[in-house]
Formats: sequence, C-alpha cells, structure tokens
Amino acid sequence: MIQIAIDGPGGAGKSTVAKALAAKLGIDYVDTGALYRTIGYYVRSQNVDPKNAEAVEKLLPSIDIELKYENGTQIVSLNGENLGDRIRTPEMSMYASAVSAIPAVRSFLLETQRSIARKNSVIMDGRDIGTVILPDADVKIFLTASNECRAKRRYDELAAKGIQTTYEEVLADMNARDEADSTRDVAPCVPAPDAVTFDNSWMTPEECTEGLVRLIEEKTGKKN
Ligand code: DC
Repeated sequence: MIQIAIDGPGGAGKSTVAKALAAKLGIDYVDTGALYRTIGYYVRSQNVDPKNAEAVEKLLPSIDIELKYENGTQIVSLNGENLGDRIRTPEMSMYASAVSAIPAVRSFLLETQRSIARKNSVIMDGRDIGTVILPDADVKIFLTASNECRAKRRYDELAAKGIQTTYEEVLADMNARDEADSTRDVAPCVPAPDAVTFDNSWMTPEECTEGLVRLIEEKTGKKN
C-alpha cells in the first residue's frame, strides 16, 4: 500500500498530473476537490449562503456523498445522482471554496477521504492531504506554478468545456480563491513541513509527470 499526497493551489495541474501518475503506478486517483464542489452544489441548490456556517452545517445530515470508480474514473454522486461536470463551473469553484472553510464540512468529509486511503493505494489531490488527511503519506508533493500560468491553464480548460469567461475573470477568481484557501483558519492550503514543493510553471504536463515519477522513486526507493 502506498499513499501519495499532492496539494497545491487551483490550476497547478494537480488533477492532470495525478491522473497520469495513478495510471503509471497502477493506483487509484482521488480528487478531493470534487467532494467540496459537491457540497457547494447542494448548498447552492438549497439557496443557502455558502459562507453561513450555521446554515450550511444544518444541511449536512441530508447529504450523502458516494465516491466510486468506473474504468478508473472517479464518479462522485450526491444523494444517488452523478453530477458530472455540473460541479466544474466557476460558480461552483467559489461555492466549494466558501464551504471548505467551514470546520463542520471538513470533519464531514474527513472519514470519506481517509477510508479510501486505508483500503487502496492512492494518489490523492487537494489542499490539506499532506497536512491533515494523510499526515503519514509516503510522498508529499506541493505542486504550484505562477498565478498567470495557472489562470491561463484554467481558462483553456473552461474554454474547452464551452464555459464562457475571460482570462482576466479567471485570474481574478483564482487570486480570490487562493487567498481564501491559504489563509482560512482550518486546514489552510500550505505545504506540509515534509512536502517537496514542485513548481511546474514552464513544464508540459508530461515533463511534470516525469519529474514527479523520479521524485516518487527516490522517496519510496522503488522503481515504478
Ligand atoms: O481542487 P478544486 O479546485 O476542485 O477544489 C475546489 C475547492 O475546494 C478549493 O477552492 C478549496 C477546496 N478544497 C479544500 O479545501 N480541500 C481539499 N482537499 C480540496 C479542495
């Protein structure tokens, strides 16, 4: 069993690289952001302010989140319904960020995340995987890139999905979300003391994956 934690701000390419690494290593990829997005989606559907901790906490007992894998792809369902790309909009990014600052939401999702890593070898991406969720992970990576590179990537991703926005809007949203995610009181997005910080600003996804494969080999002492 192996646990690999990849944390870092949005748009650093965590999911692209973690998916590629999971395929190379033959282990499961767990996208924890999808869990916060799903809660954000539910909160929005109930017309509740995502910053109102008390109101959001009251909704938690009516939320059942299930994580499963189909052909190696993670499927997250909310009360039995697969939300697909509905959780990937810029609005849901902001809702996810807001609800993720609420301690009750973080405790609600803690066991879901830990139990997956107890049963399977995983590469898990998020903001607090190395600091809170899997403090004993075999390898901890803090993946980052310049704000401009990250915003450009996120913009291209949204454009490819047909979501209308501008680069400036994406950059502004990203800066606001980074600030909120890294300065919140609970589980802020910061590197664990034993994490390796990896800046992939000028790398292609392939170069970044290759670099991380070498790092994982060094850390685990195994050839994968
Ligand atoms: O990785 P993402 O963009 O899908 O994450 C959406 C939001 O969820 C992000 O702004 C912060 C929050 N999040 C978190 O607080 N902890 C995690 N482990 C993953 C995501």
